[in-house]
Parts: sequence; structure tokens; C-alpha cells
Amino acid sequence: MNVLCALDDIPDGGGFEAAPSVLVLRRGGDAWAYRNVCPHFSIPLNYEPDAFWTYEGALLMCAHHSAMFRFEDGVCVDGPCLGASLRHIPIRIDNGRVLIEGESIT
Ligand code: FES
Repeated sequence: MNVLCALDDIPDGGGFEAAPSVLVLRRGGDAWAYRNVCPHFSIPLNYEPDAFWTYEGALLMCAHHSAMFRFEDGVCVDGPCLGASLRHIPIRIDNGRVLIEGESIT
């Protein structure tokens, strides 16, 4: 069982890179993890380290061409890669810790 981070490490309504190329997003007691790779140009979603742009704790915006992805399923709902998805990394929350399920992140 790999501990990725503490739930409280993740800004509520935002996200950060908890491991190389692993972005975690949080809304209240829920969290999701994705590869930090935009499906538009296969580059990181952020422009500066740990500066992820979000909208109302519900959408993640790519810093390059403003694609908008839903926190809960990583689907692009607006922008140049409409309908494409971020690559999901299965996690679960246990006692305030965010645990990676199954996949190695190295
Ligand atoms: S690289 Fe993300 S929207 Fe273009």
C-alpha cells in the first residue's frame, strides 16, 4: 500500500503534484488522482510548479490552452480536447491518508 499524501496536504478545491507527474485534486472529503499530462499536447497541465488553476472546486484548467476537466472523472468539458480524459490513477482515502491502489507510480 503506497501512501501518496495526507488528504489535508491537498488544498480544498484545488490540487498539487503529490509525486512526479501525479496530480491529486480535492473537494472536501473526496480526492482524485490523475497523471499530470494534458491530453491536448501531452504536456503537464501546469505552467509553474504546483500552480494548478481550478474553478469553483469542480474544474481543473490546463494552463496552456484552457481546457477544463471535471475533478471527478477527468473528462474535458470545454476547450481544445473536448471529450478527452486525463489518465486516472486509482486512489482511496483511509484515515486521512490518500493511498494509491494497484498501480505503481514510479
Ligand atoms: S496543452 Fe492543455 S489545453 Fe492545450
